[in-house]
Amino acid sequence: MDIRLLRSSDIPLIQHANLENLPENYFMKYYLYHALSWPQLSFVAVDVSRPKKTPYDYPKIVGYVLAKMEEEPTDGVQHGHITSLSVMRTHRRLGIAEKLMRQSQLAMVETFGAHYVSLHVRVSNKAAIHLYSVTLGFDREKTEAKYYADGEDAYCMKLDLSAIRDQIQEARQAGPDAEPEDEGEPVGDVGKAGDEGKQGQDLAARPKEQKRKVKVGRALGVAGLVEKDESSAGGAAKNP
Ligand code: ACO
Repeated sequence: MDIRLLRSSDIPLIQHANLENLPENYFMKYYLYHALSWPQLSFVAVDVSRPKKTPYDYPKIVGYVLAKMEEEPTDGVQHGHITSLSVMRTHRRLGIAEKLMRQSQLAMVETFGAHYVSLHVRVSNKAAIHLYSVTLGFDREKTEAKYYADGEDAYCMKLDLSAIRDQIQEARQAGPDAEPEDEGEPVGDVGKAGDEGKQGQDLAARPKEQKRKVKVGRALGVAGLVEKDESSAGGAAKNP
């Protein structure tokens, strides 16, 4: 199973999964809007083990998280929002949703400096509520009456991302030359400095790789590219 960033070419399969799994559905352009506006935040789970019957078979997408940054946060605090999450029935309870969510949360902090992430969930959706509150630690902020088109209420949930912010801050302060975490004893001969001389010499002769900081996201003006009026026209959900 691969968890990787959403590509525009995945959108038909994401839309298919969304139609299979959820009553809140969106126009194709709303998925594209996410993929183009916040390309760092949405992820897919791909079942790469699926045997290809023809060379034209597309790898099967079995889960996705569609996420964005709140464009005009009412509280003035920079934060992310989970628009939609689902995993195909055949691949549930394998930890895929948790992994998708954690990847997106990390990217929200790394790329956009998000302080928290929010979402809406149906009050009857026991599986998703367990995932959000027990597995991931979201808090229930409030209940929005008749949030969904069929009249069901939604819980507004929120997760503080300061733990991730602190981890990233610590890693940055430690700098690029910081000692990497101990990965245990070396296994096998590859990379042993004294391995008949050859490999050790090769490694020693190689110049030390320099890491450099690269500006991404807001620093490059992503916010300026965001259209303002798409979310209400996006689909059946009131405010995804
Ligand atoms: N009942 C109780 N707990 C469950 C259930 C269930 N049916 N399914 C998963 N869980 C628990 C797991 O046991 C695990 O708990 P643990 O950490 O305590 O062990 C936790 O939830 C995470 O499990 P994952 O395997 O990561 O979840 P999974 O990949 O099965 O996906 C999801 C969960 C996304 C809710 C899936 O059931 C689904 O796609 N449902 C239909 C679509 C949906 O409801 N999406 C969310 C809508 S809200 C929104 O989009 C913002």
